Amino acid sequence: VSTAQPFVPNTDDLRELAAASRQCRGCDLCQQATQTVFGAGPTDAQTVFVGEQPGDQEDLRGTPFVGPAGQVLDQVLQELGIRRDTIYLTNAVKHFKFTRSAKRRLHQKPSARQVAACRPWLEAELSAIGPQHLICLGATAARVVLGPNFRLTEQRGVAVATEYAPWTLATLHPSAILRAPAKQSQVLMEQFRSDLALWASQIEP
Ligand code: URA
Ligand code: SF4
Repeated sequence: VSTAQPFVPNTDDLRELAAASRQCRGCDLCQQATQTVFGAGPTDAQTVFVGEQPGDQEDLRGTPFVGPAGQVLDQVLQELGIRRDTIYLTNAVKHFKFTRSAKRRLHQKPSARQVAACRPWLEAELSAIGPQHLICLGATAARVVLGPNFRLTEQRGVAVATEYAPWTLATLHPSAILRAPAKQSQVLMEQFRSDLALWASQIEP
């Protein structure tokens, strides 16, 4: 079976985990992508954000949320007055999955098997950090953290306790906001803002 498990060292040292993740061959996604994109941020972050998987720019730069989705996130963080460098950002899957078109590499959704294979990395990150607040961006991350039956459309924006963090909340993925037609995109952006505002109201200044 595909699993990252044998590649994950038994340690709470995030730097050691990040270094080991670069050698991961736990599933087929390591073959096509440029590099592993491990989580980034302070080891003592109070909040962890989990996305789906790196995109084109993240794959090239080796850092999560530096492309268009990251810009949406940055915008809302700025509106809320929260510095990005206080947050740990990561993804459910650490390698970019794509198909090639003539000009671009097009994002493809990771399969349930690939998400399951990569899960040990996320588990290790969350256990190393032990965040107070955990935000799942989109359905892929939400299902990993909150269970396979989680329905984003019905259950987003409500904080619950999980084994990973006492305050865990799922919201939209910023890429979903970018992909939606203009009118719907505005509605989704408002939902995203209000979910993150709820989180911001919980943070100790
Ligand atoms: N989308 C994600 O889910 N994660 C990234 O790092 C970038 C885009
Ligand atoms: Fe390993 Fe995850 Fe990359 Fe698969 S996607 S090779 S499990 S780091």
